[in-house]
Amino acid sequence: MAMVALKCPEIEVVVVDINEERIKAWNSEKLPIYEPGLLEVVKECRGRNLFFSTDTKKHVGEADVVFVSVNTPTKTHGIGAGRAADLTYWEGAARLIASVSTSSKIVVEKSTVPVKTAEAIGKVLKRNCLNPDVKFEILSNPEFLAEGTAMEDLQHPDRVLIGGSDTPSGQKAIQTLAEVYAHWIPRERILTANLWSAELAKLTANAFLAQRISSINAISALCEATGADVSQVAHAIGTDSRIGGKFLNASVGFGGSCFQKDILNLCYVCESVGLKEVADYWLQVVSMNDYQKQRFVERVIGAMFNTVSGKKIAVYGFAFKKDTGDTRETPAIDVCKGLIRDGAKCCIYDPEVKAEQIFRDLSAPKFEWDRPNYSRSQSHILENVQVQSDPVAAADGAHAICVLTEWDEFKKYDFAALYEKMVKPAFIFDGRNILDHAKLREIGFITYALGKPLDPFLVKGY
Ligand code: UGA
Repeated sequence: MAMVALKCPEIEVVVVDINEERIKAWNSEKLPIYEPGLLEVVKECRGRNLFFSTDTKKHVGEADVVFVSVNTPTKTHGIGAGRAADLTYWEGAARLIASVSTSSKIVVEKSTVPVKTAEAIGKVLKRNCLNPDVKFEILSNPEFLAEGTAMEDLQHPDRVLIGGSDTPSGQKAIQTLAEVYAHWIPRERILTANLWSAELAKLTANAFLAQRISSINAISALCEATGADVSQVAHAIGTDSRIGGKFLNASVGFGGSCFQKDILNLCYVCESVGLKEVADYWLQVVSMNDYQKQRFVERVIGAMFNTVSGKKIAVYGFAFKKDTGDTRETPAIDVCKGLIRDGAKCCIYDPEVKAEQIFRDLSAPKFEWDRPNYSRSQSHILENVQVQSDPVAAADGAHAICVLTEWDEFKKYDFAALYEKMVKPAFIFDGRNILDHAKLREIGFITYALGKPLDPFLVKGY
């Protein structure tokens, strides 16, 4: 919305939320999310044609176009638990729009939703609006930006996708929204489709991206077993223009609020229309991701003489990727929990993630992070977690360092100095393949790099 406000000065954009604290933060110098370049854009537009407010009734009521970007968490109980998207918040938003609307509106699905959500939302809007003259046109306009590069992605997207119904009013609504984007995006990059294609395209895009990561991660396990190097394999296949080089970085696993959730959602849709084989196929992408995280934990424990009990392990990076403070579904959660279950004491450092968030994540039950008020499960996990604001202190007295996020600053650390402070033998487990492994070995570290030929120490397992 900030980008729309920046590029379309004649359009008034009001971002509304029922959460007062968040709106307060959006109106301050410290935005509630960390995204490079966002603050500058917000500052340029705020008070001009970009506003943040909790007065949903007024602003939704007055709007011509309403973008709905509410949470769609995975259901934790009832039918479809663990797979289906919970549309409670979406339905709530639709009821609100219907109840305050005195003029016709275009309602845009911005949050990722299951296929055919527009149909359900249409019914809620129609049945809850008392004014018979008010008409709603629903569009699907999925977002393809990635965190950390959001501003660049928004400024120069590969494409914008707008789905709408085939009726004349549906086509008119598509054109209205297309004109907004045409302020800065070439027309040929603004794709139009029917509603269901647009909704499904979003889930499919994320499924394909995640599938590439799971595919290369599967190969990383084979590389370790055979002495091949996953970076060389990725480079060799990525130069085939049909495959392409992006999204082939082996990692400790993909995270983020979308990949797993969207695939589970896709699987649920497949199952509900009787396509079990198709659902099973995509589910493997998530299973492989879980396997990769588990494999990493086993590697750490196995290398350290099959016991991490009472050992301090420094964890570098908790965010699900670099340049973001976002920790939703970060692989670090499962890795830390896995290590702690075996008795390790994790000392976590991340340049952007707050201690409070880390404790919250490590105590949250699966899938609950996307709900505002989940109940905390009391566990022994937290007793074995420490959060450090200094990477050197995190490594002091540690037996191992695990790199779980690819933050650039990790590459610049003085590892010789860190080595001096650690218990010997000192281990490094690079879950992102960002460090200079030859140099680390020279210093004396026993070094594990994902998908790379193993140190003799690790092969023999003594
Ligand atoms: C992803 C998609 O890339 C966006 O196009 C999409 O709009 C977004 O989800 C969404 O649906 O909201 P995002 O989750 O922000 O974006 O970040 P990605 O760059 O896709 O990274 C996802 C995860 O995959 C991260 O944990 C990252 O470290 C991991 N990854 C990525 C790898 O392990 N290897 C790679 O080669 C690339």
